Amino acid sequence: MLTKSAAKAFFLGGTALCSIAFVLLTMDTLKQMPDRSNQDQMSESVVRGHHIWNQNNCMGCHTIMGEGAYYAPELTKVMERRSHEWIAEFLKDPERMYPGRRKMTKYAMFDPEEVGAEVAAGNVADVVAFFTWVGEIDLNGFPSEPDMSFGANASTTSLIDTSVDSSLASAPEYFKTICMSCHSVGLQGGNVGPALDGVADRYDADYLSKWVSDPQSIKADTTMPNFGLKGEQLEEILTFLATLTEKE
Ligand code: HEC
Ligand code: HEC
Repeated sequence: MLTKSAAKAFFLGGTALCSIAFVLLTMDTLKQMPDRSNQDQMSESVVRGHHIWNQNNCMGCHTIMGEGAYYAPELTKVMERRSHEWIAEFLKDPERMYPGRRKMTKYAMFDPEEVGAEVAAGNVADVVAFFTWVGEIDLNGFPSEPDMSFGANASTTSLIDTSVDSSLASAPEYFKTICMSCHSVGLQGGNVGPALDGVADRYDADYLSKWVSDPQSIKADTTMPNFGLKGEQLEEILTFLATLTEKE
């Protein structure tokens, strides 16, 4: 049994020791915080993006770092599966990239026609800057992969393995991040539209050019979006599509 004074000493000593440990650990956490949260990367654009996030109550449907509602995909690491271009296309009109799905709100502020291209582009860039910054916070592996098994697949260049299908080695960036969110090549990519393997055998160059630059001109009710592709970017994609012939 402890004597009364020993118990008192044990209590005071224990409390002091734990308090010191607590203060040291708190200091350690505070010291690591700027590194882990990339404070120095928090540009004005990131802050504006955060503002857009709050003002439009994106959290009413989405979570970031686990905070928000569970209706829509978790977005902390969204930049690992979506490119800047994809997000820009998506925010302009969310249903285009998820044809026939439950709809995400279409925000007028992102519509270049309504707001003026510069302002709208700025908005998307700010949202992307915010997502990029959030994505770089060291969260010890949180969150786990969200369930994106429906419709438009995750699609960033880093997720596409060209060693599985070498025909993708020459694919333009835009094709990998935008087209492949809906189309597959060699079993990689989305399943919203048909697989594009062998597409150059099925259609001639003129048809493909017309289809890719303006799908609705061929089939008025198609759900494939018109991306307004033209010039060099369109050429690059068509050149690549021409390489997609049936393999023996
Ligand atoms: C009414 C609910 C709702 C609100 C509000 C909302 N979203 Fe969404 N969002 C969705 C749903 C649902 C999806 C999944 C696509 C689908 O099923 O249409 C989605 C998908 C996304 C995606 C694509 C995720 C991926 O990897 O495919 C991004 C990016 C996104 N939302 C950003 C935003 C931003 C930014 C805001 C605020 C400006 C916002 N969302 C507000 C419902 C919402
Ligand atoms: C939002 C999803 C989506 C995206 C993104 C998309 N497509 Fe499509 N695409 C479709 C759908 C759906 C069809 C089938 C259309 C139909 O028959 O109405 C289609 C059809 C096609 C076809 C005809 C294929 C065939 O076998 O009939 C080609 C070629 C094509 N897309 C190329 C592209 C290219 C190139 C891109 C990128 C610039 C692209 N698509 C982006 C949804 C998409």
